Amino acid sequence: MTITRRSMMMLATAGAAATLMPRAAGAQTSGPQMDVARSATCGCCGAWVAHVRSAGFVVRETVREDLDVVKAELGVPSDLQSCHTATIDGFVIEGHVPAAEIRRLLAKRPVAIGLAVAGMPAGSPGMEVAGLKDAYEVVLFGNAGREVFARY
Ligand code: CU
Ligand code: CU
Repeated sequence: MTITRRSMMMLATAGAAATLMPRAAGAQTSGPQMDVARSATCGCCGAWVAHVRSAGFVVRETVREDLDVVKAELGVPSDLQSCHTATIDGFVIEGHVPAAEIRRLLAKRPVAIGLAVAGMPAGSPGMEVAGLKDAYEVVLFGNAGREVFARY
């Protein structure tokens, strides 16, 4: 299940992501803007947004109460779901994905829907807990299957 070739499905997914979260008019960007959908009460979502902002990403946050709908529309498999869901440059970023992996994704541009860190592992960006560090995988997922993109 290697994900190596571009497909029409990828283009369709990118289009869907773009229409779901329209960009704010006049938003200033340096590089592609990231749109993050999160619930109003999620503290770790805010901490993750701070992480990607400090890594140089331009982020627009949208508070949604129907995140399950957002995830379904963007094609995030149920077993890979986490708290917030982001889109950037045609890709979906689910959960506490490290900014360095997002950069690598945007550089490689594999045919995939995006990256996910399932659940909320302690020690992932935005989930820092003193003394706790879970092992976790950054999973590249798409219509052709999935593969481990990085291990932490
Ligand atoms: Cu979280
Ligand atoms: Cu979150």
